[in-house]
Amino acid sequence: MLQLKNDESRYGVVAQLFHWTIVVLIIVQFTLANRADALPLGSAKIAVLAQHKSFGITILSLALLRLIWRWLNPVPAEPLDIPRWQRIAARVSHIGLYALLLVTPVVGWLMSSARNFPVSWFGLVTLPDFIEPNRPAYEFLHETHELLAQTLFWLALLHVAAALKHHFIDKDNVLRRMLPVKLKQDRP
Ligand code: HEM
Ligand code: HEM
Repeated sequence: MLQLKNDESRYGVVAQLFHWTIVVLIIVQFTLANRADALPLGSAKIAVLAQHKSFGITILSLALLRLIWRWLNPVPAEPLDIPRWQRIAARVSHIGLYALLLVTPVVGWLMSSARNFPVSWFGLVTLPDFIEPNRPAYEFLHETHELLAQTLFWLALLHVAAALKHHFIDKDNVLRRMLPVKLKQDRP
């Protein structure tokens, strides 16, 4: 039976879909940013950046919907046999990841407005500009966008390492409960 909502012991299908869709989009997003970085100024670079902006706005929207869904659902309890410091580290890193999933695209959006390049979502909707074109603001926002993206990259890597440690070393249910698979019985 498909379980849509979370329960005490695992994430439901909707939370899992949000999690893994955003993971794929973040990989696409870094790939597009690197591709744009390698291109000289010109129409090809602008086209790749337009895709980067559209995927970035998609990530922002999905992260907002995901947080609303999370708020409507019980979040699975942290396994009790995990040391306190690890439970705190998990909570802090999840808050950090959510914050970066929201702030990085917002800063990208403001940066584009400051550069006088309005943001369009796949050519279908043009988003409003919340700041006027302004060169120093663009430079500051560009630096900030890059720093936030790097922080997201390293924090996500740490998060993946923790998930793999739970699965392969501690052999617990932490990774399984974010996947559509059966949970292992803790105690026979
Ligand atoms: C989670 C979402 C996002 C991530 C992880 C991300 C990541 C990155 C990275 C790694 C770069 C390369 C940094 C550099 O060396 O310049 C970049 C550049 C850029 N990003 Fe994003 N980005 C995101 C969302 C957005 C959004 C929503 C927009 C605009 C609506 C945006 C606009 C840009 C632009 C215009 C550049 C090129 C800046 C320039 O060279 O002038 N990004 N992004
Ligand atoms: C861009 C990459 C990623 C981001 C931004 C991300 C973000 C998050 C966030 C925000 C949560 C907290 C969920 C909640 O309680 O609402 C979470 C949970 C989780 N993530 Fe990721 N994640 C990423 C990649 C991965 C990968 C690649 C794996 C697996 C190797 C993974 C495994 C997990 C697991 C197992 C949980 C549940 C942790 C628990 O039960 O406390 N994540 N992720």
